[in-house]
Parts: sequence; structure tokens; C-alpha cells
Amino acid sequence: MSVPETTETNGAETKEAETKGVATLKPRGEDRVRGGHPWVYRSDVASVQNAEPGTIVEVRGPRDRMLGHALFSDQSQITIRMIARDETTIDDAFWRARLEAAIRFRDSLQINATAFRLVHGEADLLPSLIVDRYDDFLVLQALSQGMDRLTATLVRLLVEITGARGVLARNDPKVRRLEGLDQKVELLHGEVPETVDVREAGITYTVDPWHGQKTGLFLDQRENREAAARYARGRMLDCFSYNGGFALVLASRCTSVEALDVSAEAVDRITRNAIANGITNLTAREANVFDELRHLERDHARYDTIVLDPPAFAKNKAAVSNALSGYKEINLRALRLLNPGGILVTCSCSYNVDESMFAGAVFEASADAGVAVTVVEKRMQGRDHPVLLGVPETYYLKCLVLRKLA
Ligand SMILES: C[S@@+](CC[C@H](N)C(=O)[O-])C[C@H]1O[C@@H](n2cnc3c(N)ncnc32)[C@H](O)[C@@H]1O
Repeated sequence: MSVPETTETNGAETKEAETKGVATLKPRGEDRVRGGHPWVYRSDVASVQNAEPGTIVEVRGPRDRMLGHALFSDQSQITIRMIARDETTIDDAFWRARLEAAIRFRDSLQINATAFRLVHGEADLLPSLIVDRYDDFLVLQALSQGMDRLTATLVRLLVEITGARGVLARNDPKVRRLEGLDQKVELLHGEVPETVDVREAGITYTVDPWHGQKTGLFLDQRENREAAARYARGRMLDCFSYNGGFALVLASRCTSVEALDVSAEAVDRITRNAIANGITNLTAREANVFDELRHLERDHARYDTIVLDPPAFAKNKAAVSNALSGYKEINLRALRLLNPGGILVTCSCSYNVDESMFAGAVFEASADAGVAVTVVEKRMQGRDHPVLLGVPETYYLKCLVLRKLA
């Protein structure tokens, strides 16, 4: 699935999109757009005229200055999602160029895997659109009224560009409710099997794109798994392991691997993935990591490599304080379980907890554990999940590779 340098647009298919409405911003909204942020909140919009939910609107400043085009939502607090900052016509050719640019960038990364992200929303100038590739199949998420309305066009273009055999909509994330959209999983093109086998870092994973977490795998950790493998050794503990991403990739470097997840389905999948890859030094068990770390400490267990990759603890700003306590607790316990010289790979995917807050929680954990820790690597989400500079919401995954001294 690669994209040629230039792709002819079929004139017959190119049609003007429905650029009808006009959204006029308040001064703060104009400042935000001119400052480069793609989102304008409801409170910064003065008026919206002639716009249906999810249609493309012209965006104008308070003095009628043309600011570009955007997707309009009549339900979300994010009323405006900028798609262009000029008078470009928003038609098939526009969307095709955006999709091709996103996919061509992934081609340029020469990712050594058959599953990765092709479109990462705002960071590909395709706000609220996610497209992941699993072998010859695509999994799409349309997370705003605008992208939902455009889905048929996007799927047709994606199939033309990539030749995908099937496209599945994993439109089940809760955020769709904020847009007044229903949560559903549906086949949009061709066929998508119940499971798809993909390869990453020499490991074959069986993925369930219909029911798996996210779109099937945590693709954003691919490069962190590869990085962690450079340091892994000895006895390893993989906490919050899901289908076994870290555990499976690191197993060949370690003498033994224990994987923990609260989901029985995930544990079953890790076990089957280990067998399919001929990995014999891995055991997976269903457990609540918070409880299990306490039990392991009580039993004086010791490890040389520990991975902490919990779900987002802070789904909103109100949850940040509890989230920081959670991060501190698991990191404190992990540091106590590590042998001197051991490696801790610790992650946070809560964008509400920024890099310095997360590092602060981990530092407090090290201070409480009474151990000195060095930062071996500071990492983030993989390059196929780019961060849009100036848009902190697009930087969500932090990953620290730490070494416990004494
Ligand atoms: C971010 S994912 C982990 C992804 C995985 N490390 C990978 O590379 O594919 C978080 C996982 O934590 C699990 N989980 C959530 N709360 C948990 C808990 N309290 N104890 C154990 N697992 C938990 C979820 O089932 C999910 O599989």
C-alpha cells in the first residue's frame, strides 16, 4: 500500500463540496485560529449561519476577515475544526491530497511492520479522523460530525489510494457522543475478517479489529516496544500488557516474562500470540496491577525489567490529581520490585497529564522508594502518530526508559 508521488484526480468524481455556511468568530476565536490551533470552542464563536451539522463552513473573523474553512459541529464544545486556512475549494481533490500526503509520509518512514497509523487527525490536517492499517485492511474512526458526514467520500478515496480489501468503521469511542453521534462498528467497504494477522518487530500478532481495544492494537507504542527491547534482560514483568505488545517483543531478550492484564480476553490473546510465535518463557495472568504489585512486593519478588503501560488515568482535567497519585503508586511499587541496575519502562497516555507532571510523579515515586534513577531515554508516541506543534492535545503518550541505580 504505497502512494505514487502524484495521483491523477478523476475529474468525473471531483465535485464541489457543500461549502455553504459561514461561522463568524469572536476576537478570541480569531486569535486562536491565527495562532495556529485548529479548534474553536462554542464560547468563541459569535454566530453560525446556514450550516447543517457536520457541514463545511467558511470561517470569518469579527471584522469579516476570511480565515479559512472548517468542519462545523452543532453539538460539541469544539464548534469549529479548521481544515484549511485559505480560500481553497474543499472538494474531492482536496481530500485526496490530504490523504495522500498522510499516507506518503508513512511510506517515507519505512515502518518495519504491517500495522501502523495512516492518518492521525489534526496532525495530518484531517481533524478528528483516524485511519489505521492492519495488513490489507483499514480501520477508520470518524470522531466529529464533519468527518462522519464525509465518511463515504473518505472511504472511496482511501480504497482508491491504498487498494484496501476492506474498511471497517470503529466508531465506538465515547467521544462521538459529545458530537451527538451514535457509537457503532460497521463494515464500510469490502470485507474485514474477524481476525487479521500482522507483523511487528519480528512478532506476529493476531488482531481482532472488530472488538479489540482502540482499533485492535496499541500502534502508538510500536517504536517504544522496539526501544525497550534494547535494554530488556533477566526477569521481566509487563504490567497492563493487553495483547502482549511489550512482553512478546522483549521475551527473546529476557530469561522469563510475566504479563498482567485485568482483561481475560487480553490474557487469552497474549497466551495464544506467545504460542503462535514459539515463545516459551512467557506466562500471562489476569490481575489488577494495583493489587498484584502489592502482592509481589509482599512476596519479595524481584525483576530486572518492568514495563508500566496503564490506560489513560486522567480522561479529563478533574481527574489529574487522582491520576498523578495512581502513576506515583505504580511507579513506586515497580521501583521497589526492580533489582539495582534494572530497567523501568514507564508510560502515560493521558494528555491531561503533561510530560513534566508525569516526570514529577515518577520522581516522587523514586524519592519515596529511596532510590536514585537515571533517565536513559525520553520517548513519545510513534512517528506515525505525529504531534502538531502548538496543539498540546496531540501529544498524549509519554514513555520514560529509566535505570535504577542503588
Ligand atoms: C495502554 S493498554 C496497554 C497496551 C500494551 N502495553 C501494548 O503495548 O499493546 C492498557 C491495558 O491495561 C489494562 N488495564 C486497565 N486497568 C487495569 C488494571 N487495573 N490492572 C491490569 N490491567 C489493566 C487494559 O485492559 C489494557 O489492556
